[in-house]
Amino acid sequence: MSFEYTEITDPLFVENKGQTGEDDYIMVRAKQYSHVPIKIPNWTPQAHCYTTLFKQYEQELLEAEVYPDDVWVISYPKSGTTWTQEMVWLICNDLNFEAARAESLQIRFPFLDVSLIHPTDTSSFERAKNTPRPRFIKTHLPVSMLPKRYWEVKPKTIHIRRNPKSVAVSYFFHSQGIHYRGSMDTFLRSFVREHQFYSPYHAHVIEYHELQDCDNILYLSFEEMKHYLPSVVRKVCEFFGKAYSKPELELLYQHLSFKSMRDNPTVNYKSRDPTKKGEQFIRKGEAEGWKKELTPEQIQLLDEWTKEKVPNPEQRKLFE
Ligand code: A3P
Repeated sequence: MSFEYTEITDPLFVENKGQTGEDDYIMVRAKQYSHVPIKIPNWTPQAHCYTTLFKQYEQELLEAEVYPDDVWVISYPKSGTTWTQEMVWLICNDLNFEAARAESLQIRFPFLDVSLIHPTDTSSFERAKNTPRPRFIKTHLPVSMLPKRYWEVKPKTIHIRRNPKSVAVSYFFHSQGIHYRGSMDTFLRSFVREHQFYSPYHAHVIEYHELQDCDNILYLSFEEMKHYLPSVVRKVCEFFGKAYSKPELELLYQHLSFKSMRDNPTVNYKSRDPTKKGEQFIRKGEAEGWKKELTPEQIQLLDEWTKEKVPNPEQRKLFE
């Protein structure tokens, strides 16, 4: 077996899990990782949070095929993945807005590993396998859990990161819309103890930024997209060897605007549970919305967490 499973015994988590809807959460650690080209000396991956569903799919994950003409978008959840996917898909598909509006992004750009955290009709690995090439693949997997073939093939990849406080708020509302029944406060306390899906967050971001000889990866941030979309689009076009005229790019900026994405049902996904009437998937789209949405105590909790987890000042810049 290539993964090690441990139950979450943290008393705070155990006390709340029945009420919050996190009964089946589990920590999973990759045991084979020597093939990951990481610069961190004596690196050993940490355990990441999933559900017990992971066990059912571990072989499919390990054996997932990766093709040289694949395009991957990788992120920690709630970092602007969907926004990035839509931008990348359009840039790679001759800005075909009509095709983009005709089919859900979830079909055009399958989420490889969703079966590890939510029950799915068909295995998400199977769905990705049956997607016609060239494929566009979304994943939240940490470096230690990417399929082995990823490192042999090194497909073109965009990694997107976002400020931890924005991720925390966005993750709470997202989870609430799916299964989470606790308060914002309970969620945040569990998030900083690394007990939300795909946590630990900082390790995910740092490890991707500490890879070596991976010129197949272009690194972006939500904040950069928010403040300088044209410059991000220029970088992404260059990365994929694409060029578009000014008027074409204007249409792209318009299509990618918050309002247009929010009004677009192919990217603003409906809740899995129609009885849930919470926030929309594309919710606020702000870079610093946390300033209004978090209490001073919650801000302090998240800041202390980043300070503790990221003592290296160079790496700390990734989280500013
Ligand atoms: P908020 O919950 O803060 O609004 P992901 O796709 O990784 O799940 O990230 C979702 C976050 O990206 C949500 O953040 C969502 O509103 C934001 N987002 C999606 N499209 C956006 C856009 N066009 N402009 C700004 N933010 C966007």
